[in-house]
Amino acid sequence: MIVKIDNLSHDMRGITRIDNKVTFIDNTLPGEIVNTKLTKQKKDINEGKVLSFVEQSLDRVKPICPYYNVCGGCNISHIDYLKSVIYKKEIVKDIIKKYSDLDINPDIIYDNNIYNYRNKITLKINNGKLSLVGENKVNIDYCYLVNDNINKIIQLLNGTHLELVDEVIIKGTNEIMVIINGTVDEKEVINILRDDVTSIIVNDNKIYGKDYITIKVKDYIYAIYPNSFFQVNTGMISKLYDKVLEYAGDGKLLLDLYCGAGTIGIYLSQNFSRIIGIEVNKDAVVSANINKKINGINNIEFICNKSSDIEIIGDVLIVDPPRNGLDKITINKIINSSINKIVYVSCNPITLARDLKVLKEKYDLDEITLFDMFPNTNHVECVCLLKLK
Ligand SMILES: C[S@@+](CC[C@H](N)C(=O)[O-])C[C@H]1O[C@@H](n2cnc3c(N)ncnc32)[C@H](O)[C@@H]1O
Repeated sequence: MIVKIDNLSHDMRGITRIDNKVTFIDNTLPGEIVNTKLTKQKKDINEGKVLSFVEQSLDRVKPICPYYNVCGGCNISHIDYLKSVIYKKEIVKDIIKKYSDLDINPDIIYDNNIYNYRNKITLKINNGKLSLVGENKVNIDYCYLVNDNINKIIQLLNGTHLELVDEVIIKGTNEIMVIINGTVDEKEVINILRDDVTSIIVNDNKIYGKDYITIKVKDYIYAIYPNSFFQVNTGMISKLYDKVLEYAGDGKLLLDLYCGAGTIGIYLSQNFSRIIGIEVNKDAVVSANINKKINGINNIEFICNKSSDIEIIGDVLIVDPPRNGLDKITINKIINSSINKIVYVSCNPITLARDLKVLKEKYDLDEITLFDMFPNTNHVECVCLLKLK
């Protein structure tokens, strides 16, 4: 059937109406007219795919990746990059209005490195070769989202025997760590990779090189262990953290909840007399303490605990939770605390909006800035400044 796409969904799929039901059609843009076939018919919604285009949008470009549409990684690379940034901004405005009834007009910060920006990839094995993680197990030799040091490792590993391997994670920028889970000929892997990697981990055991790799962000060097979180877009990290620094300002005590490897607290360490970082993952806390040492920071301490288990104290609070946002206990503790200023860093505008709806009882949303940390994907990072009313 022939339909016209009206707008974009929050995950950047085209939306039309068929039989009065909202219908999502992948890889389409507002204004496009497409010949579509329904692939799923549920109670409230349909899903469809494009059979052919009758009229294409001027915002459409040809994706450069041969695995586009199969992998799901660079899932919006059919949109002109600058237009995609405008769409993201409009989507976040809509989400915040819809779920927290707040009107916002954020800036969105981005840079020119829209390909090869990622410092991490997770791959599976299919027929003895590295393949993408999604439903479609396509073997790959190159990913346009990761940096070329990682791409080199993908090509080298494809020349080894990977038949009994379950998963491979490659991370880093200048220093590269390869994590292999499954059965592999360790000598063969070391021989092939030794000139190009800093660390090789097989089934949680280091078989070559250092325990961790490092990534430099402005004046700071950060250690990354196999299981610790690190922002994936290396080039954009300092832009994001500079905004967190600007919003946080200065003061006596900074509480950094969900602190990961302590990266934000360390970046802000000159502006506060004392910083406490809270993180549930033990490996991340080990990384945070190494980072404290490497960077010679003395006014920061890290506590391995759940955010919901600690008392909310300090002048300024930073929260940077995972995609599911703040839990009920933590948000209630924040509402009942005497914190003056909150900087909320979020990779999921929907849970951010849900949390802002609660926080706005006591705090004004003073400013919000978006960061395109994930070009060519439908994801976006948000940084909010909230001030006590
Ligand atoms: C989005 S990452 C942020 C890390 C860090 N702020 C950064 O910029 O690299 C979220 C972190 O929250 C941690 N985390 C998840 N649930 C938590 C909880 N209930 N309490 C404390 N930390 C938690 C995760 O282990 C992860 O390191």
